[in-house]
Amino acid sequence: MTDGRTTLLSGNGRDGMAGPHGSRLLHGWYATGGAADLDEHLDRYGPPPFPRSADTADRLVRAVEDAGLTGRGGAAFPTGRKLRTVAGGRGTAVVVANGMESEPASRKDETLLDLAPHLVLDGAALAAAAVGADVAHLCVPRSRHRQAHALRDAVEERHGTGLDPVPVLVHELPHHYVSSEETSLVRWLNGGDARPLATPPRPFEKGVARRPTLIDNVETLAHLALIARYGPDWFRSTGRPDAAGTTLVTLSGALRTPGVYEVPMGRTLGEVMDVAGGATEPLRALLLGGFFGSWLPVRQALRVPFAKQDLASLGAGPGAGVLVALPHSACGLAEAARVLGYLAAQSARQCGPCRLGLPAVAADFADLAWGRPGTQLLRRLEGRVGLLAGRGACRHPDGASRFAATALHVFAEDVRHHLGLGPCAAAGREPVLPATQTPAPDERDWR
Ligand SMILES: Cc1cc2nc3c(=O)[nH]c(=O)nc-3n(C[C@H](O)[C@H](O)[C@H](O)COP(=O)(O)O)c2cc1C
Ligand code: SF4
Repeated sequence: MTDGRTTLLSGNGRDGMAGPHGSRLLHGWYATGGAADLDEHLDRYGPPPFPRSADTADRLVRAVEDAGLTGRGGAAFPTGRKLRTVAGGRGTAVVVANGMESEPASRKDETLLDLAPHLVLDGAALAAAAVGADVAHLCVPRSRHRQAHALRDAVEERHGTGLDPVPVLVHELPHHYVSSEETSLVRWLNGGDARPLATPPRPFEKGVARRPTLIDNVETLAHLALIARYGPDWFRSTGRPDAAGTTLVTLSGALRTPGVYEVPMGRTLGEVMDVAGGATEPLRALLLGGFFGSWLPVRQALRVPFAKQDLASLGAGPGAGVLVALPHSACGLAEAARVLGYLAAQSARQCGPCRLGLPAVAADFADLAWGRPGTQLLRRLEGRVGLLAGRGACRHPDGASRFAATALHVFAEDVRHHLGLGPCAAAGREPVLPATQTPAPDERDWR
């Protein structure tokens, strides 16, 4: 993965999609080439319009509903609906901003928090005002300590300016794949491990301190901060009526200028990749949504719009905006085997599919990619993949199952080759997907 800040420079203005005119969240970065401090942020956007009454709080919720903003953390759930549910809950609410970004192929939240921290802090404070919360927690991974430190400075900068009507607390959590799932955040903030909890109750019912809890991705909150200022019509003026606004994407793999970009929703995947200069060599497949996502055959995928409705027809979704371009020279099975090994190691090992099913699927994939698999392997593997989904307390096994099933489908030709002739030459090449050799967390690493 190339550093997002460097590559943003090279992507500046390309095709009018990610440049000063098209960008919103990254507008300041394009204008100055640096991170925005509070003065610059206020010069650019003005102060956030905090609701001062129940009526104006309701108007803010309605503006987010009318804007059609959907969550940018993975599931693309309507943000306005979540705000309204938490606002109507019993007891004083809590807001949690999810800046954990556990997805190894994503850099968009880290980039946003680096370049426009005050947009995220505005969004958390505005969301708190909208749902009547008395505190906002901003969660970032412990491995990004420098960023947590900078965010605490940014919070400090706002003290005494009236910009944070509720305290904003910055927390550093363990950085494991499932530690960023929303119930993991709740469990950690309540004093436990950063591991998923069984639901119900969902956090919007009983979350932090058993209070109604709004959990939103940091990018979602940054969009909310702009909707509060400029209104729903402005938000909808780019993108498509059914997929409004812009979105941050992390583009990597065989692309000329990989990095983090801001693109209007609804552009085709081919257009999105053009923002990063297009492919450097012939492509075989795209991975959309990262390790929680789906493999797509490249010919089918290029013309599909980046929007939940269109991607659903291919069994995919926008996820957290991760797109990896896999070249023909890579072995899809070896890439998939490394990722599944990582996902198996990273599970919280609390439920059956993660303790037994996922390691077995990962071992079968490794055998398929690098071993001398017997003829029974494929049938056994397909059966195991089919048993993963819908059986865990959280959706980790569902994501792994989708990743594995789409790999078997998209790389079917390679499967036949490996079963018949053993590993191809490409199986031993350098990985395209980010390094995934992270050791499994031990029992003490979750707190
Ligand atoms: C295994 C797993 C990992 C997740 N990781 C993240 C993450 O890194 N960041 C994030 O915002 N949401 C992540 N989510 C989704 C969150 O649980 C939650 O839905 C999201 O933070 C809600 O914000 P949004 O509505 O703004 O998207 C993850 C979900 C799962 C199942
Ligand atoms: S499904 Fe897996 S990751 Fe999710 S709670 Fe159960 S053991 Fe943990």
